[in-house]
Amino acid sequence: MTTRLTMLVIIVAAILTGGCTEPLFTTQRPAATATDIVLPPPSTSGGMSFTKAMADRRSVRSFSSKPVTQEQMSQLCWAAQGITDQPSGKRTAPSAMAQYAVNLYVVNKEGCYEYLPGPHALRPMSGAEAMGQLRGACWQPSVGSAPLCMIITIDVERLKPRCGKMAEQYSLLEAGHVAQNVLLQATALELASVPVGGFDANAVGKAMKIPAPQRVVYLLPIGVKK
Ligand SMILES: Cc1cc2nc3c(=O)[nH]c(=O)nc-3n(C[C@H](O)[C@H](O)[C@H](O)COP(=O)(O)O)c2cc1C
Repeated sequence: MTTRLTMLVIIVAAILTGGCTEPLFTTQRPAATATDIVLPPPSTSGGMSFTKAMADRRSVRSFSSKPVTQEQMSQLCWAAQGITDQPSGKRTAPSAMAQYAVNLYVVNKEGCYEYLPGPHALRPMSGAEAMGQLRGACWQPSVGSAPLCMIITIDVERLKPRCGKMAEQYSLLEAGHVAQNVLLQATALELASVPVGGFDANAVGKAMKIPAPQRVVYLLPIGVKK
């Protein structure tokens, strides 16, 4: 009887956790430091209808030189990884075991920044040379033309303790959720984008000083359609 009960508990736990062990919600939220750029608060209601954003989204690879404003950048970062439930730290995009294996970076003409979901801020990583270095590491014309590029990385190691051999698959799926949020948010802001998966991840990671063991999996050049 006790064995059957134990088995039942294990099966229910496996169903609830999607095959991972030990559900655990990540609430690590480093505060902003004096050098971080705190973004304006994102809008969490209104705007273009979700249905219209899906209908209008199209990959665009050529952009005007018009910059993406700080308000738009704030909204795009929030769509990618913004915290939508303060007590749990849960975000706009779903995450396997709420372990948040995805990190987000933003590159524009001023530099490369890491997005910090907790304080909704950008942490400078490098200066005005960043965009040139990114373009040098990635041959895609869309990256060469866009005034802003978001970089999505995965950290498979973060998931391994709880998700074992599913860690890589779950991390990649999570990156896809994040990217789609950004593409639809860009459309809703009347900006355009394209998800870029064709590049040398090591070259881009090195050029942008992405810390190991994170791996660059997606680039999202964003701007006003030319
Ligand atoms: C995983 C993935 C990788 C992609 N990689 C690239 C890429 O390297 N360069 C590019 O210009 N477009 C890339 N795309 C965009 C596709 O070419 C585009 O989504 C497809 O042509 C359909 O057009 P649509 O996005 O306008 O619906 C990629 C899309 C996906 C889903």
